[in-house]
Amino acid sequence: MREEQVPDRNIAMELVRTTEAASLAAARWVGRGDKNGADQAAVTAMRLMLDTVDMDGVIVIGEGVKDEAPMLFNGERVGNGRGPKLDVAVDPLEGTRLTALGRPGAVSVIACAPRGTLYNPYDIFYMEKIAVGPEAKGKIDLAAPVRWNIEQVAKAKGIDIEEVTVIILDRDRNTEIVDQVRAAGARIRFITDGDAPAAVSAGMPGTGVDMMLGIGGSPEGVVAACALKCIEGDFQGRLWPRNDDDRKLAAERGLDLGKVLTMDDLVMSDDVFFAASGVTSGELLRGVEYTAGGATSESLVMRSRSGTVRKIQTVHHWRRLQQLGAS
Ligand code: FBP
Repeated sequence: MREEQVPDRNIAMELVRTTEAASLAAARWVGRGDKNGADQAAVTAMRLMLDTVDMDGVIVIGEGVKDEAPMLFNGERVGNGRGPKLDVAVDPLEGTRLTALGRPGAVSVIACAPRGTLYNPYDIFYMEKIAVGPEAKGKIDLAAPVRWNIEQVAKAKGIDIEEVTVIILDRDRNTEIVDQVRAAGARIRFITDGDAPAAVSAGMPGTGVDMMLGIGGSPEGVVAACALKCIEGDFQGRLWPRNDDDRKLAAERGLDLGKVLTMDDLVMSDDVFFAASGVTSGELLRGVEYTAGGATSESLVMRSRSGTVRKIQTVHHWRRLQQLGAS
């Protein structure tokens, strides 16, 4: 007789309640032109819900340092302290401007891995990135020319270079990469913000995105690497100093600015949990939609060890939630 195995816990199933809470709170701010208000609402909601999760978490990718961020700052303990010791990466509202301006692609996101296994970019704010899906795993190299990487993706996916869609953050610092993508003949989808969900969309079927390139936030790079590890995509990053202060900071912290950081450098463990919920609809997730007396949200829940990817549509009832005192 087959021996019964007791399934272990998938923390991502609990973490998704934190991103749902943050997305519901932030969605109230869509189009109101106030990105700080939207961010604060998401942070407060996520913080409250994090306290219910059985874990002994430490924020390694958070809202900044203690004095600048009232909550979810780097080094802060989160969870109820009773579960596994984890590193926690949060972006309660990835796409503050997208939310404030009512644009597509804002999400709330969280990722966890065993203590000491998430890369810490400290205050080096930017990272050059490449993200691809499972077909091109192990076939990319950030240090190689853009054209070569696009060719690799085209070959892996069995499509022509002209059919490859590259998602890129629309910034002056990405002009050179844009020129190289155009010279290679691939297509570009520009986004004004939110390169973490953009990177994840490169690894998910049905998004219309084949790869992500460009220089964006370092914290967003670590978060994206967590998700891509769960779906067996690939991600590489290289810290991108803005100026001599960044170079000095990197030297003080012992960070190698020339090193191509692989997915395993960014997320050392193979036991990673990821959850994200849509705030405004985008490639990856639908945003929050209101109904009479409630709202619906859409979330992604992933776990690297099992490889399970769940897309969860949740119906929220305000009245019943109020009676319960929580969601
Ligand atoms: P926030 O929502 O935290 O403001 O981040 C949005 C974002 O577009 C990220 O997705 C991206 O990695 C980063 O900002 C890029 O930074 P910048 O806006 O300085 O170019």
